[in-house]
Amino acid sequence: MENNSLNNIKLFVSNLLEKKSADEVIETAKKSDLKKTLSAFDLIILGIGAVVGTGIFTIVGSAIVGGPEGAGAGPAIIISMVLAAVASIFSALCYSEIAAMFPIAGSAYTYTYVTMGEFMAWVVGWILMLEYAIGNITIASAWSGYFAQFLKGFKHILPAFVTNFPIWLRNDYRSISVMCDKYGLDIHDKIPFIFDKIPFAINLPAIFIVVLLTFILIKGIKESTRFAGVMVAINLFIISTFIFVGAHYVKPENWTPFMPNGISGVVMGAFLIFFAYIGFDAISTTAEETKNPQKDIPIGILGTLCICTILYIGVALVLTGMVPYKMIDIQAPIAHAMHYAGKDWFAGFISAGAIAGLTSVLLVYQLGTVRILYSMSRDKFIPRSLRIVNKKTRTPNLLTWICGLIVMIGSIFMDLNISAELCNFGTFTSFIVICVIVMILRKTEPNRPRPFRVPFVPLFPILGILFCGGLIVYSLKTLKTSSVLFPVWILIGVIIYFLYGYPAHRNKNAKR
Ligand code: ALA
Repeated sequence: MENNSLNNIKLFVSNLLEKKSADEVIETAKKSDLKKTLSAFDLIILGIGAVVGTGIFTIVGSAIVGGPEGAGAGPAIIISMVLAAVASIFSALCYSEIAAMFPIAGSAYTYTYVTMGEFMAWVVGWILMLEYAIGNITIASAWSGYFAQFLKGFKHILPAFVTNFPIWLRNDYRSISVMCDKYGLDIHDKIPFIFDKIPFAINLPAIFIVVLLTFILIKGIKESTRFAGVMVAINLFIISTFIFVGAHYVKPENWTPFMPNGISGVVMGAFLIFFAYIGFDAISTTAEETKNPQKDIPIGILGTLCICTILYIGVALVLTGMVPYKMIDIQAPIAHAMHYAGKDWFAGFISAGAIAGLTSVLLVYQLGTVRILYSMSRDKFIPRSLRIVNKKTRTPNLLTWICGLIVMIGSIFMDLNISAELCNFGTFTSFIVICVIVMILRKTEPNRPRPFRVPFVPLFPILGILFCGGLIVYSLKTLKTSSVLFPVWILIGVIIYFLYGYPAHRNKNAKR
């Protein structure tokens, strides 16, 4: 009897640690139903589309000025940006090595399955949902804010109900109540209450953009990259124009004091602006759809990171040179800098660029969410019926709609800050996992061809772990709500695994 339970425990543990074979993963990728159409150039477009968005258009303001939870970097934001880029580059190198070895949809989820076994793979997949699906809620909310601002620019042409539509139709309840607290307003004057009790607020622009992008995504991946390409072109044009036009209004005296809040301001700035770098890893989720993944994925990832770092430093130099750092706006800092310089028409132009940037980030993230869930469903951790690929467009339509629905529902209930912090936690964790995986694979699969190799292993992966781990510890100490929600999210994931994923995965013959 005792022997029996011991055997059961052994079997259970070995199931949790059961790995996917690396050869099997590569074979699956070869047989994939997904269309292989993407080139290195497409990947850089997707990468920039995924990276340049809320961070540089919105969060950069708080990173410079600071907020209730920490001091800002001031003009030293440039150092913060370099720090954040360095933290990203180690993980970017590690992503490049693994994604080129295993060109398969699923990103860190699949790589974890090969190296650490099924339980950890599920946990990582679940954490990736924080980065992608919850991150998308942040971006959809920011999109809605910029869209409302953009419409205001047409107040002389469009009717007032369009240019200034009610706050409860373009925000979540929490954001409205935070705003009312801040300005001492009565929330009952701002939003309707059903039966005088239940507050009603719905973010219509966020829902609208998610529905629109879902339609584009189910048309096919090539069409999606083409759309992202147009958005990226508008976005890059507007950011570069800001740098060149704004440079004429720079007053070097605005750069002093350079580091008004010392090192702690710079570190806090790096923590916040890290959000602006998140996204290059989305490239690895499209590995199965890349023509020549071994060569193109490293070029895509590293190229994206280099271009974005150069752009960000340019924006930061001009922004802090144009406006004294304490007067930089925290909601629309770049557009505001143009107002400050007396170029109102240009500020409207910037809002259009921000909308383009946020749209492309949303698109790529939505694509990433679907591809990760696709891989998890292929492994039967979520119902297999969800991953049916449409014969004509060869995209998983049902899954694409489900992911869209999650973001729409999320944008009704979650506010921008909390979802951004949760997204950061998810990303830091997945970056750490990737660094660990590179070190494991160098031991377990020393002879497998590596078209791209991270230099100085284990030093570089360890530095990646230290940078990202440091940022997690720092934010856990600083943030209140999300530091509780993050472990709760993981716990919910573990419960779902044991109730559904574990038995479903073992029930190999069941048709789902
Ligand atoms: N890096 C992305 C952005 O800034 C997430 O919106």
